[in-house]
Amino acid sequence: MGRILVAYGSSEGQTAAIADRIGDVLADAGHDPLVISTKHPPPEIDIGRYDGVVVAASVHMGDHQPDAVSFVRENLDALERVPSAFVSVSLTAATGDTDADRTTEAYVEGFLEETGWSPTRTHVVAGALKYRDYGLLTRFIVRRIAGKEGLATDTSRDHEYTDWDDLEAFVREFATVVDDHSSSAQ
Ligand SMILES: Cc1cc2nc3c(=O)[nH]c(=O)nc-3n(C[C@H](O)[C@H](O)[C@H](O)COP(=O)(O)O)c2cc1C
Repeated sequence: MGRILVAYGSSEGQTAAIADRIGDVLADAGHDPLVISTKHPPPEIDIGRYDGVVVAASVHMGDHQPDAVSFVRENLDALERVPSAFVSVSLTAATGDTDADRTTEAYVEGFLEETGWSPTRTHVVAGALKYRDYGLLTRFIVRRIAGKEGLATDTSRDHEYTDWDDLEAFVREFATVVDDHSSSAQ
C-alpha cells in the first residue's frame, strides 16, 4: 500500500470528478490516496512523503490550467523521484480521429515542455460539455467548436464524454507501477 497524491486543475468541475474517481480506484487497489486541487493546495502538503503522484488538468483554449503548471514546476524534484502520471482532459479527446490524436498529443507535450516534467505515464481523457454552467458567450463559442467537431450542440443540457472504464483501467495499471516501485525500493 502506498500514499498517492492526486492533484487536479479544473475549471468547470469535470477534472475534479475525474480526480475523485482516480482516488476511488487507487483506494480500491489498496492504496491511500489524497485528492487536492492545484488551485488551493494545502500549504502543509509535503509531496516528498508520497509514493506516487497523479496530476490531472483540462484544456481551455489550447492550454492546461496555469495553477496545474505551477504546481508541477514547484514540485518537480519530488515528482521525478516517484512513479507519476499526467492525465490530460479535453474535448478533442472525445472526437477520436487521427487529427484529434495529434492534437491531444500536442496538448500533453505542451504541458510537459512548459513544466519540464517527465511523468512515468501519460493518459488522455475526454471531458464534458457543461452548457448549463457556461455564461452566454462561452456557451456560444463552445457550441460552435463542438458543432465543427461533430459533438453535441444541444445547449439545454450537459454532455459527458468521459470513458470511465478506460480511466479506471489506466489507474489500476498505474497502481501496479507504484506497487512495483515501492517493493523494489524496500
Ligand atoms: C472556454 C472553453 C475552452 C475550451 N477549449 C478547449 C480546447 O482548446 N481544446 C479542447 O480539446 N477542449 C477545450 N475545451 C473543453 C474542455 O477541455 C472540457 O470541457 C473539459 O471537460 C473541461 O474540464 P474541467 O471541467 O475540469 O475544466 C474548452 C472548454 C471551454 C469551456
